[in-house]
Amino acid sequence: MKVEIVTYRNGETTVVEYDYQRRSDDEKPMVLDVLLQAQVSGMPDLAFRYGCRARNCGVCTVDINGRPRLACRARIREGDTISAMATLPVLSDLVVRRDSIARQMRGRLPAQVSGNDLNVEASAEYHTLTACVECYACLHGCPMHAQNLEPQGAGTAGTLEAGEGYRWGNPFSLLKLQMRRLDPLVTEPEKEAVVAQAVELGLEVCIDCPGCKCGIGIDLKNKVVKALLDAAEQNSAQSPPD
Ligand code: FES
Repeated sequence: MKVEIVTYRNGETTVVEYDYQRRSDDEKPMVLDVLLQAQVSGMPDLAFRYGCRARNCGVCTVDINGRPRLACRARIREGDTISAMATLPVLSDLVVRRDSIARQMRGRLPAQVSGNDLNVEASAEYHTLTACVECYACLHGCPMHAQNLEPQGAGTAGTLEAGEGYRWGNPFSLLKLQMRRLDPLVTEPEKEAVVAQAVELGLEVCIDCPGCKCGIGIDLKNKVVKALLDAAEQNSAQSPPD
């Protein structure tokens, strides 16, 4: 099965044709199978990431034909093109810089309020959001995050120094903030502050956006974005006029 693997080294992008050897006639390989085989046969320097191999860690995300997919979970087909996520700066081959997303959330998620009542039960909605594996597939097509990559454009080295967080948000950061809102141990003033942080990250861009897609199927549009937009509207209606 012939596929294309896009490598990125020293600022140069190269499309390499790779011929995957099936281990049996009925094998339906995953993208990660192709990458692992390529690394031991013909492309020893190929750089890519993976961890759990069971869609739990999210670090294996790559673009397949321009769309983000978990490499350990997505089946590969004849003629497919595997490339680094276009929404994050590429470090080498299929490895992207992920730290600026996590750093963006530093200081926005205060430590858990401690108290005696540790038996407080979180809502089912909260537990739905805990399924996020931080694959960052949701960044695909996100107009809010796209502002972080200007003016150089997606797939370039980006404009941030190592260790900096992005200015503008993304569905993942909104999900983390919405989880704080749903956390039963978080106080009401803190929940309001969380909504303000979402607004500061650029939440209003979401008003005109048709919606984002989660790599593992969380309903981001309704459970995260709409919930925060509604809360922001409510907060601004309650705040006294200037
Ligand atoms: S390797 Fe962990 S989600 Fe793919």
